[in-house]
Amino acid sequence: MSFDDGSGMAEGLWWQTGVIYQIYPRSFSDASGDGVGDLRGVINRLDYIVGLGIDAIWLSPIYPSPMADFGYDVSSYVDIDPVFGTLDDFDELLSQAHQRGIRVILDLVLNHTSDEHPWFIESRSSRSSPKRDWYLWRDPAPDGGVPNNWTAFFGGSTWELDEGTGQFYLHLCHRKQPDLNWRNPDVRAAIYDVMRFWFDRGVDGFRIDALWILIKDEDFTDNPEPPSQHGEGFIGGYMRPGFEDHSEVQDIVSEMRMVADEYPERVLMGEIYLPVERLVRYYGEDLTGLHLPFNFGLVTTTEWGARSASRLVATYEAALPEGAWPNWVLGNHDQPRIASRAGEADSRMAQMLLLTLQGTPICYFGDELGMRDCVIPDEFTVDPQAAAGRSRDGARTPMQWSLAPHAGFTTPHAVPWLPVDGSYPNINVEVQDVDPRSHLSLFRRLIELRREHPALHLGSQKVMNGDREELLVFLREHNGDRVLVILNFGSSVLAVDSMEVGEKARVLCSTLMDRFGDVYISSLELRSHEGLLLALTDAG
Ligand code: NOJ
Repeated sequence: MSFDDGSGMAEGLWWQTGVIYQIYPRSFSDASGDGVGDLRGVINRLDYIVGLGIDAIWLSPIYPSPMADFGYDVSSYVDIDPVFGTLDDFDELLSQAHQRGIRVILDLVLNHTSDEHPWFIESRSSRSSPKRDWYLWRDPAPDGGVPNNWTAFFGGSTWELDEGTGQFYLHLCHRKQPDLNWRNPDVRAAIYDVMRFWFDRGVDGFRIDALWILIKDEDFTDNPEPPSQHGEGFIGGYMRPGFEDHSEVQDIVSEMRMVADEYPERVLMGEIYLPVERLVRYYGEDLTGLHLPFNFGLVTTTEWGARSASRLVATYEAALPEGAWPNWVLGNHDQPRIASRAGEADSRMAQMLLLTLQGTPICYFGDELGMRDCVIPDEFTVDPQAAAGRSRDGARTPMQWSLAPHAGFTTPHAVPWLPVDGSYPNINVEVQDVDPRSHLSLFRRLIELRREHPALHLGSQKVMNGDREELLVFLREHNGDRVLVILNFGSSVLAVDSMEVGEKARVLCSTLMDRFGDVYISSLELRSHEGLLLALTDAG
């Protein structure tokens, strides 16, 4: 599909020049008043999304699901869960979004289905079921125990005994999410048909869930013991050779790309938590793989500062294959929010970084307001991953729209499925909308500048920190349009000193939203935790 989205960005494809916004539908906007967000809620908020300057929305799963993992356990790939609405509602959302120049990306959960999916029900019905091999079944170990030592991302063994047939099935996530057998060609064909079903409806792309763990070791060999020092969850910081990053996944990626290429201008983005050298392989040989394998560097970094950011940029740039389009992610529904990871001042800097670095920015709903992780009391905890001590509920609380009850997320008498964060009287759209210095105003301004400046949506990138420890400085440039980004991660005022970019500049935006006008670079000072965007006005 090709339509004029009014962005005025003539060069580059929409998923390259645009900004992608992730909506976690359960938490975005509840029109039905049952306490859970829905498609009608998203439709009602499309003008807000347009106002942000967003080009595409990615919806976390909206398919029928028993909700053991809040939609990431799919029981039908070709329908909509009633809690979110109907297929007609979806078609309306798609058409209304397209009318506004907004693309719609769906979440494709293909490592596993729900145990309530008809495929699994059939598979577990008997050892001789024609769909037995669609999932991964193993006999018990000689002592009757689990077949190997693999541990699930949600805690415990990856194996669940099916009493009826006396075999274990594999689930890398929740026990209600049995893993599909991606070595089975019928499974592949079935999922590719699912892709076509949505592409035919007009969907603009997919975010592919848990892509790097699709293929498992054929012999189900034990994983080595994890190193004594390691991270947790999807970003363990160590490899589990049993199921991570098998080279056969690359064949699947190129097959999926062929399906996407049956349609014009569709995008494939992939959830891949791997070190960059491995991650970039998902662009595929000669770029015949994913368009945007998610670069989680800014999410997984444990250090927030100029040095770590420039290291991230350098490693990523060095690893990117020729012609590969970069992308940056700041948050998602699985990770603590940026405002909680970095703090209010640095979360503004993080937005500036995300929206000015070279490549496609992927934003998480609510981060435009600086929404924080909500502290959820145990009795309200619903995330199955909480069993492994890593609840994600705090980053999934309802969008804070206004000063109304439940922050305007749902109707006054409804009970939201997760509590609304207590910060909502200050952090909400209604209040920030009219405050020219708010986080929201900053976010909108940055996107506006990104659209106006080819340097920002298309340009080259050169990091120019020199030996300045607290400053991150980089130059974006395209056909004479030159924009300098300077971020002071330090806690004191810093002088920029002269740089090899000329002397005269115009302030486009400060993260504090209070600086305008012309400046001389050699006499420029940045306040602590201030980021500045400058248009360079000397001839380049
Ligand atoms: C990754 C998703 O982002 C996460 O929310 C989900 O729990 C797992 N995949 C399992 O589908």
